[in-house]
Amino acid sequence: MKRSTLFRRPAAEPLDLGQSGDFGYLQPGEIYLDAACQSLRPQPVIDALTDYYTTYNACGGRVKYAWGQKVDNAVADTRQAVLGLLALSAKSYAVSFTLNTTFGLNLLLQQLPLGRFDRVVTSHIEHNSVFLPTITAARRLGVDRLVLHRAADGALLYEPAQLEKAVVVVNAASNIDGRQLTNLAELVRDTHARGGIVIVDAAQAMGHSRALLQKTEADAVCFSAHKMYSASLGVVVARHELLASLELSFVGGGMVQDVREEDFDLVQGDPGALLEPGLQAWGEIIALGRAIDWLAGARPGGLAPAEHIAGLSDRLYNGLAEIPGLTLVNTQASPVISVYAPAQDSHRLAVFLSKSRISVRSGYFCVHHHLKQQLGLPPLLRFSLGLHSTESDIDTAIQALARLMKGLS
Ligand SMILES: Cc1ncc(COP(=O)(O)O)c(C=O)c1O
Repeated sequence: MKRSTLFRRPAAEPLDLGQSGDFGYLQPGEIYLDAACQSLRPQPVIDALTDYYTTYNACGGRVKYAWGQKVDNAVADTRQAVLGLLALSAKSYAVSFTLNTTFGLNLLLQQLPLGRFDRVVTSHIEHNSVFLPTITAARRLGVDRLVLHRAADGALLYEPAQLEKAVVVVNAASNIDGRQLTNLAELVRDTHARGGIVIVDAAQAMGHSRALLQKTEADAVCFSAHKMYSASLGVVVARHELLASLELSFVGGGMVQDVREEDFDLVQGDPGALLEPGLQAWGEIIALGRAIDWLAGARPGGLAPAEHIAGLSDRLYNGLAEIPGLTLVNTQASPVISVYAPAQDSHRLAVFLSKSRISVRSGYFCVHHHLKQQLGLPPLLRFSLGLHSTESDIDTAIQALARLMKGLS
């Protein structure tokens, strides 16, 4: 499919990142270190959203007037751009939009066909968005649920026999310490060889570790646009076979070909529509297309985004490791780093840092089972980086935390 040029930035236009550029709306001195929750949105993405709302605010997929045609073209562009990001083909995969990663995972898991799977497999370090729906899916399917360990490098530790007719649902990158699913390709191969499927929670991977996911041929990949520099939106990229096998119970407008009093025919030739009952968030979908273009051209500090983030991650990791009284949960640098001070309450530390206009997260970050029950840790303090982050942000945050720890000890 040919992409329209509607929202594409001319190739030669330089991207000026940092507080004076596409994140220039950030007030001086404001340090946002919670990108794992929501990345900041660059100005061009905000502009694309505003442009939709103010100049062609039409529904997609159903109207014939010019605004609607413009929406349809831009939405088709975004679907294509998502497949491009993952290096997947529309011949095998469809892109659906939804609310967020959590909703996408639930749409798949709660509509899996009965009688086809023997177990649900997940891991200990999963976000509640995977942990909880794998519990309810196993109950609905009437099968066992197996919770496996992940190695320090993020690999899922399994015996191939555990994958027999399994629905495997795991994250590609952790929201506690950024560790990655380093054996994703083998996991997909081994699961497919035993008649199972793999659904990947890519919420933390799409921003900065997409390479891990490209061409891995999982059965589905779910993620949130709001964690990859775009507006709030969920995305499901799923194989046509998986979509066709679903026992749909979330149904409605936009996905039917014909309706009778007691029955209906689903739309043909548009598998992605099967997960999209009702009107969609057209502006947010269009903004995601713009964010993907923006990411392709981003050169923060003159570096490729991955290089920029890697440098900042090292700086943050080394700086935090030097603060007396602090324990790092991470065993290596990553864009997401969690720590705790055994003698201090993390929530209190977060409130104090906020007084210096430094925004970091405190708590269990929706990984309660692993952090609280299994490891017995107190609430943590989490620093997460985005492309808006600078060396000076990190240095300021580290100095502020070091001063705080000294003052409180
Ligand atoms: C690893 C991981 N999975 C899933 C989610 C859920 O994402 P959302 O709240 O956008 O559905 C998050 C959110 O932080 C996450 O970090």
